[in-house]
Formats: sequence, C-alpha cells, structure tokens
Amino acid sequence: MLAIEDLRAGYGDVAVLRGASLEVGPGEIVALLGSNGAGKTTTLRAISGLVRPTGGAIRFAGERIEALSPPEIVGRGVLQVPEGRKLFPSLTVEENLDLGAYARVPKGQRGETREQVFRLFPVLAARRRQAAGTLSGGEQQMLAIGRGLMGRPRLLMLDEPSLGLAPQVVDRIFDVIATINREGTPVLLVGPGAARAGRGPPGVPRTVRSSGAFRTPGRRARWVVYEATRNPAGRNRLPTLPSVL
Ligand SMILES: Nc1ncnc2c1ncn2[C@@H]1O[C@H](COP(=O)(O)OP(=O)(O)OP(=O)(O)O)[C@@H](O)[C@H]1O
Ligand SMILES: [Mg+2]
Repeated sequence: MLAIEDLRAGYGDVAVLRGASLEVGPGEIVALLGSNGAGKTTTLRAISGLVRPTGGAIRFAGERIEALSPPEIVGRGVLQVPEGRKLFPSLTVEENLDLGAYARVPKGQRGETREQVFRLFPVLAARRRQAAGTLSGGEQQMLAIGRGLMGRPRLLMLDEPSLGLAPQVVDRIFDVIATINREGTPVLLVGPGAARAGRGPPGVPRTVRSSGAFRTPGRRARWVVYEATRNPAGRNRLPTLPSVL
C-alpha cells in the first residue's frame, strides 16, 4: 500500500533521513518508533509532501508520490493527523471536522461521514457546537483523529496520538484506532507513545519488519518498525514493545 525506499530528507543542509525504508501493507497497523529527534515526524511530513525528499522513493498504491504536492497527496487519501493536533480552537467541533472533509468529500456526503465519526467518538457528538479550544486534551485528540477520518483516508497517519494523555484516554484512542483499522484502513502510527498500543494480550507474536539506522545529526537513532499481528480472535493488535523505547 505504502512503500518507502531509501528515503533521504532533511532541512536545508541538515540531513535527517539518510536511507529510510518501511512498508505499510493493506489492512495493517504499523508502528514507527524512535527517540526524540530521530526523524519520525519528518518521515510523515515527507510522505505528506510537506518536506521534499532529496532521494529515494515513496509509493502509494503503486504510484510514485514523492514529487507530488501536499494537496495531490491528500487527494489520493493519504491523510496525516499531525503531532500536537493543530486544531482551530475558536471553531466548533463540527467546523473543525468539516475542514478535514474539505479537499476530498463533496459537501452532500459530509453529514454521513460526520455521523460515522460521531459513532466512533460519541463525546464529540455531544460537543458538536462547542469551541474546540474548550475540549479536554483527550477530546481534542479525538477531534484531530475525527478530522482525519472526515477525509475518508486510504492511509491514516497518526503522529504521537497519545502524547500527554491519561492512560484510560489512551486506551480509548487505541481502541478506536484498532476499529478504524478493522474496518479496512491501514494505519501508520508514530512515536514513543505508540508503544502503549502494545498492551494487548501477553504473548502475542510480533514481527520485526525492519530495524535500522536512521541517522540524525550528531547521534544515531534506533528505529524499529513493527508489524502489527493478529491475535486468534482476528483483531489487529500492535505488539508489546520493548520498554526501552
Ligand atoms: N523545520 C525544521 N527545520 C530544521 N530542522 C528541523 C525542522 N524540523 C525538525 N528538524 C530537525 O530534524 C530532526 C528530526 O526531527 P523530527 O521532528 O522528525 O523528529 P521526531 O522523531 O518526530 O522527534 P519527536 O519524538 O521529538 O517528535 C531533529 O534534529 C530536528 O531538530
Ligand atoms: Mg515528532
């Protein structure tokens, strides 16, 4: 579905990604982990077209996308829920959601997509006319994910969705991510917080798909990409991840 090969990207003279490769297959949840500054957000930004790669290839559904503009990439259904949520605090819940649909979903179909989001996050329905800035941190994260879903993603990318949230809220958010995935959307999940998603049943097998050396200036970051596994009930779960991350 998504395949990144030997990706090189950075900011000005600073090379952040020096040959990064990863794949997200149809129906998978893939967690991308690494220390602060390792280049996780840069990877997502490169996929979204917000950082222009200097080398390598990004393929989505078989097509090279690394030279496309951000709107063209969004148009293909590659949607990113950014680190730090980036909501519009003075707009209502509903207005923030509609912004997510703007580029991809015709006006007449937005209501239906919005109802799907409200089914996943009932708390947003109850607060639909409330300003986003008045929501709790967890509700804001739900709204940021909901806004991503409004664009009917073919690939949903989430940057640190659990940052700064209470454990119960994190559980709720990862349950919803698992539901979104079960309903057919592949997910690329980024950040040390992704490790929390691993609290599935103990002993779930895990596959290390690739681990490697994405080098950041001045230090070597350890990057590990884990493939989500299916437990016997057929639910897609992220594996338990090493606590060092
Ligand atoms: N706009 C920018 N201009 C210059 N350097 C940047 C910019 N954004 C990020 N960097 C640098 O690129 C490197 C990778 O940053 P990135 O945000 O991708 O890391 P990350 O893995 O997402 O980290 P974190 O876990 O802290 O979110 C860092 O050294 C950072 O300082
Ligand atoms: Mg980051």
